[in-house]
Amino acid sequence: MCSIIGYRGSRPAARIIVNGLRKMEYRGYDSVGVSTLYGDRIETRKGVGKVAEVDKSLHLSAMSGTIGIGHTRWATHGGVNSVNAHPHCSNSMKISIVHNGIIENYQSIRQQLRGEGYVFKSQTDSEVIANLLQRNLELTGSIRESILRTLSRLEGSYAFIAIFESGTIAAARYKEPLIIGLGQSAYYLSSDVLGFSDHTEDAIFLGDKEMVLIGPSGMEILNFDGEPIQPTITKIEHELTTVQKGEFSHFTLKEIFEQKSTILRTAEAPWYDSKKMLDRLSSCKNLYLTGSGTSYHAAQIGSYLLSKYAKKRAEPMIASEVQFLPHFLDDEAVLIAISQSGESADILGAVNLAKEGGAEIVSVVNSPTSSLFRESSYSIGLHCGPEIGVAATKSFTSQLVAMYRLASQLSGRKIDPDFKEVSAAVSKVLSNSAKIREIAHDLEAVSDVYVLGRGIHFPIALEGSLKIKEISYIHAEGLPGGELKHGPLALMHKDVSVILVNPDDCTHSDTLTGAHEIKARGGKVIGISNVYNDIYDSWIEIPTVHDAMFPILESVPLQLLAFYTSIQKKVDPDYPRNLAKCVTVR
Ligand code: BG6
Repeated sequence: MCSIIGYRGSRPAARIIVNGLRKMEYRGYDSVGVSTLYGDRIETRKGVGKVAEVDKSLHLSAMSGTIGIGHTRWATHGGVNSVNAHPHCSNSMKISIVHNGIIENYQSIRQQLRGEGYVFKSQTDSEVIANLLQRNLELTGSIRESILRTLSRLEGSYAFIAIFESGTIAAARYKEPLIIGLGQSAYYLSSDVLGFSDHTEDAIFLGDKEMVLIGPSGMEILNFDGEPIQPTITKIEHELTTVQKGEFSHFTLKEIFEQKSTILRTAEAPWYDSKKMLDRLSSCKNLYLTGSGTSYHAAQIGSYLLSKYAKKRAEPMIASEVQFLPHFLDDEAVLIAISQSGESADILGAVNLAKEGGAEIVSVVNSPTSSLFRESSYSIGLHCGPEIGVAATKSFTSQLVAMYRLASQLSGRKIDPDFKEVSAAVSKVLSNSAKIREIAHDLEAVSDVYVLGRGIHFPIALEGSLKIKEISYIHAEGLPGGELKHGPLALMHKDVSVILVNPDDCTHSDTLTGAHEIKARGGKVIGISNVYNDIYDSWIEIPTVHDAMFPILESVPLQLLAFYTSIQKKVDPDYPRNLAKCVTVR
C-alpha cells in the first residue's frame, strides 16, 4: 500500500507534505517523492529510501510553492528505483500525479498512448494516469472533463491526486481510501487521516467513485458522472491520530507494551446494535470468519471459541483464498471479517464476494472510517489506537478479546473471560521482558525456528512464527505439536530452535512429548509455560490464568522474542523489508 498526500493553501506545501508522509510511512516505504507548483512550473524530486533519507539527500522540504503532492511507495509494478518512484509527470510536464492502487488495464492504455506519440519513462502502471490526463485535457480544454474522461478509462483500484500547472489540485478514488482535510484557508488530501491530523480534525471521507477539484474558486466534489455531491464533514477521533513513540525505541515495542491497557479498552468498548448482531450470528445457517496475516490467526481462534463455547460451527478462511475455495456464503450466511486496517484488498475482496452471494458482514476493525467498516452491516471496534508497527501486535490481542466477547455473548456466558486477570498477567510478562531479551540472543544465529502448539495454541504458534518471519527475517514455521513426528522431525538438528507454546492445560503433556523428541535430535527447546520443566533449554514463564485465556497471554512473549531477535539482527522492526502495514492490492 502506498501513501498519497496533497496540499493547497497559503503555506509552503513541501514541509507539510514531507511531515505528513513521515507519519504515514508505515504504509509503505520503498521510495519517496514530492511535486510542487511554483509560479507556473511543476518541480518534482523523488528517490529511493525512507522519507528522512530522501528529504536529506534531495532537500524535499525546501521545495518552493504552496501547492504540492507527495508519495511513499510500496512497489507493485516496476522495481524500486527513482524512475518508478512517484510523482509521475505527463509528457507535457504540466501535470503531476501520485497514485495508490493498481491500474489493471495500464498496458492497453500505455499502448494506445504510445501509438499517439507519448513516451513512458517508468515501468509503473501509475504513469498512464498522468499522460491520460494530459491527452484528455488537450482534447477538452477542461480539467473537470479531462478527469471524468480519464476515470471512465481506468480499470482496477485507485486513489490518485493530480496537480495541474494552472494551480488546480484534483483527486479521485475507487476502492482505495482518500480523505480531504479542511484547514484554515487550506485543503489537505490524503490516503490516511495521519497525513494531516496535525493541522485539522475536520475531514471529508470521499466515497467510492467520487472526485474532488480544488482551485482558486474553492472546492467541488462530484461523482464519476459529473454530478455534484454534498459532502459530510466528520470530526476525526483523537485516538486515531496519536502516533508518538514516547520513551520506546520503536513503535513495535511501544505497541507490545500497550497491550496491558488495550486489552481492557477492547474488552470494555460498547457494542452498537449488539442484540441485532448477536441474533443474526445465532440464527445464521453458515458462519465464516476471515482475515489476512495475523488477522487470519485471530479468525482461527474465533472459530475454536465459537465452536467450543457457543456450539456454533464457524469456518475460518484465509481472505485471499475465499475466491478459490468452495463455500456457502449465501443469504443464510454471515461472514465475520477481521482486519486491523479495514483496507486490506484481500479482506475487501472476500467481503465483496460474500455480499454478492447475499451474506451479511460483521466486521472487526480498528478503524471506524475504513472501507471494511462501511461495507459491513455490523461492526465490532478494537479501539486499540493506531498501530504503526508493520507487524501486528496489540491489534492481534484486541482481535482475540473481541472473539472471546463474541463467544461469551453467543454462549450465554458459558465462558466469562476475566480480562482484568489477563491484563495483569500481561503486565507480569512485560515486566519479565529482560529475560526474554536474553533468550532472544539464542535465536539470532539459528537457521530455522519452529513454533509448536496444540489445540487452541496452534494458531498462536502460527502467529508467533509469523512475527519471527516478519521482523527478524529468520525462517520460522508454526506447527501443530502432534505433526512434528510426521515429517518436520527430519529437520531437527543442533542449529534449530523450537518454541513450545505449552501452558499447563489439556495439551501440556502431549506437547512435552514433542520436546523430548526434539532434544533427542539435538534441537534446542524454549518453553513458554506457566509451569517449569527441565526439558526446556530456556523457560519463559507466564502467569497461571483461567485455562481458556492463555492464548491472549502467550502471544506477548512470542511478540517480544521476535522483537528482540529483530533488534539483535539489526533489522528495523517498525519497517521490515518488502512488507507494508496494509496491502491494498491483491
Ligand atoms: C499485512 C500486515 O500487510 O497485512 C500484517 O503487515 C497484517 O500486520 C495483515 O496482519 C492484514 O492486515 P489487516 O489490516 O487486514 O489486519
